[in-house]
Amino acid sequence: MSNDQPGRAPAHAHDVARTTTRHPDTVAVSAGRPTAVGEPLNHPIVLASNIRGEEGVYARTHGVATWAGLEEAVGALEGGQATAFATGMAAASAALFALAPRVLVLPTFSYLGVRALVNDLVEQARLQVRFVDITDSAAVIEAADGADVVWVETPTNPTLDVADVRAIAEGAHRAGARVVVDSTFATPICARPLDDGADIVMHSGTKFIGGHSDLMIGLTVTADDVLHDRLRHARLVNGATPGALEAFLALRGLRTLPLRMERAQASAHTLVERLRAHPAVEDVRYPGWGAMVSFVVVGGADEADAVCRRVQLLVPATSLGGVESTIERRQKYAGDAHVPPGLLRMSVGIEHVEDVWADLSAALG
Ligand SMILES: Cc1ncc(COP(=O)(O)O)c(C=O)c1O
Repeated sequence: MSNDQPGRAPAHAHDVARTTTRHPDTVAVSAGRPTAVGEPLNHPIVLASNIRGEEGVYARTHGVATWAGLEEAVGALEGGQATAFATGMAAASAALFALAPRVLVLPTFSYLGVRALVNDLVEQARLQVRFVDITDSAAVIEAADGADVVWVETPTNPTLDVADVRAIAEGAHRAGARVVVDSTFATPICARPLDDGADIVMHSGTKFIGGHSDLMIGLTVTADDVLHDRLRHARLVNGATPGALEAFLALRGLRTLPLRMERAQASAHTLVERLRAHPAVEDVRYPGWGAMVSFVVVGGADEADAVCRRVQLLVPATSLGGVESTIERRQKYAGDAHVPPGLLRMSVGIEHVEDVWADLSAALG
C-alpha cells in the first residue's frame, strides 16, 4: 500500500521541500499542502493514533499528514527536512539526544529552559558544559576544540546577543564539533542557519511560527539525512510527538509569518528609536531586525515591575511571538538572575505602532 493515503504522512513531502526556489513569502503560503486533484487544499486534522490493517503503523512511529504538512513547509523555509515535536523544549531535547554530546559549548546568556536541561544532564554526569559569550566567535571556536556540539542561540533570550553562525560553524566543524542553532527569535524569515553551516536548526514553534499564543509545538530542521533519521528516531523513542490540532494551527499560523514579521519588525524599529531617546530608558538591545526588543529601565527592578503593572495594551506575559505585544522583566527568574535587574523583554506584535507606543510611553512615565 502506498504511503499517500488520506491522513498518512506523504512519503515524498520532503523532496518537494528541498527543491523549492520561491520567495519565503510564497513558500509559507504554498508549501505543505496536498497536491493531487480532488484533494482538499489543507491537510486534515488527523485525530487518529491507529491505521487500519497495517502492521506496526501507528501515529507515533509513522506520523500523520497534519504533522507532515507543517514539516514540509518549515523544511522548505529553512532548506532542510523538518521534524515536529510536542514543544520547543522537546525539539531541544531531541537535538541533544540525537547528537549525544559528551562536551557541549553553550551560551552563558541564553534561554533558561535549555540551560536547565543541560544543568540536569551535567548533574547526572552525562555531559560537561563550557559556557561562552556567543558574540565572541573566536572564544566559541576555541571552546569547540575537544567539544562534540556547539549550541548557538541567536538572537539570545533575553539579552538579544547575535552570533556569527557562519564563522562559528566553520570553526566548530574544523574542530570536529556539530552545531545546533536555536533560531526561535530569528524565525525562518530573518535567518537560515543551515545555509550558514549549522547542522540542526531548532524552533519553539510555540512562538512566532504559531504566532497566536494558542499552541505549543517544536521543530528541528536538518539537511543531513543521517541526522534527520536520528531526530525522527529521537521523537519516536522519547514519544515527544505534536498534537494534530497544534500542528494544524502552527501551519495556519506559518502562512502569515512573513506578513506578521514585516509589520512587527517595522513597529520594532520605531519603538527602538523612541526608546533610545527616552529618559526613563538606559539601554536598548535590538539586533536591527526581528520582533524582540529588550531594554533596561532607569530605576532597576522596582521601576521595571511598575512599567509591567502600568501597561494596559501590552500584555504582561512570559511567552512571546504572538500577534499581541507582550512584556516581561526577566531577572526575577533564577535562570535569568545574571541579566540586568531592570531589563524588560518585549515581543512586538502587529497592533498599530502608535497604540503600542502610547501605552508603553505612558507606562514609562
Ligand atoms: C529561545 C527559546 N528556545 C526554546 C524555547 C522553548 O520552547 P517551548 O516553550 O515551546 O518548549 C523557548 C521558550 O521560551 C525559547 O524562548
